Amino acid sequence: VFETMKEKKHVEWKIVFLAVFIALVLFPIVFVSQGSVVATGKGKFYLVSMGVGDPDLITLRALDTIAKSDVIICRKETRKQFAKYLKGKEFLDISKAGWRTYRKDCLKMEDEKSRAKCEQDRKTRGELIAEIRSAIDAGKTVAVLGSGDLLIYGGPYRWYLKEFADLQPRIIPGVSCFNAANAALGTDVASGKETRAVVLTTIREIEKLSQGHPTMVIFTMFTKFEDLVAKLQTLYPSETPIAIVFYAGYKEKERVVRGTLDTILGQVRGEKLPFEHLVYVGDFLE
Ligand SMILES: C[S@@+](CC[C@H](N)C(=O)[O-])C[C@H]1O[C@@H](n2cnc3c(N)ncnc32)[C@H](O)[C@@H]1O
Repeated sequence: VFETMKEKKHVEWKIVFLAVFIALVLFPIVFVSQGSVVATGKGKFYLVSMGVGDPDLITLRALDTIAKSDVIICRKETRKQFAKYLKGKEFLDISKAGWRTYRKDCLKMEDEKSRAKCEQDRKTRGELIAEIRSAIDAGKTVAVLGSGDLLIYGGPYRWYLKEFADLQPRIIPGVSCFNAANAALGTDVASGKETRAVVLTTIREIEKLSQGHPTMVIFTMFTKFEDLVAKLQTLYPSETPIAIVFYAGYKEKERVVRGTLDTILGQVRGEKLPFEHLVYVGDFLE
């Protein structure tokens, strides 16, 4: 009897030791190495670049992140383009984001239509935020898919970083239209003669940045090309080279038009320029 009791005590001590070991050593190791994810039972939140242009400009890391994601937020075109990697995923409606009015004071909007849109955005965005949070709380991995470098004029993605800052979103880098257009031009964009600086900008800021004639890469959004050239002509010599890269990253559609500030308007006269065009100005193009 004495021997059996001794053995039992021994086993009890072993259990206590194991419990203390798990609590003090194993749990903190998992907690530290995995972030709060494992410890709190929460899922992870990713912003993933799918590259630009054709699907083959996606990265292996992006594909890997998609494979381990449960919930996807993306545009319809992305879902179609990458259908084979998105089979069996749960989708949330990206159109609910209404990112243009994020943290805007709707009540201060004077125009009635804009105010109504702002209120509507706030409502649908609230729903989307709740859906994302509930997926994360259920331990699911959520990925927002976007095109280009999500952190270059990434208006549609910026708000996720603010709203979900507590989740420490991880960003998967990707090919920007800037990278694809550089390749289409085939010249080192930082090899200018007057200056080697490269400014990524929009029409709104070219004036204050034009001193020293840096190479400018102009993200056009909905800028009228005539307005852009007219402005550039006041800031750069008229013989300065300019190039337009259309549909960078699309093997079939990509096209480059080169000229000078003097000639370029005539070269594209009558053309309706698509959203996907990037404008380069600078003597590196000579
Ligand atoms: C809001 S910015 C987004 C850029 C994106 N974050 C990136 O890194 O590619 C959109 C502008 O980028 C340029 N752009 C986007 N895709 C393009 C493409 N495939 N070819 C040329 N320019 C493109 C156009 O000037 C467009 O108006």
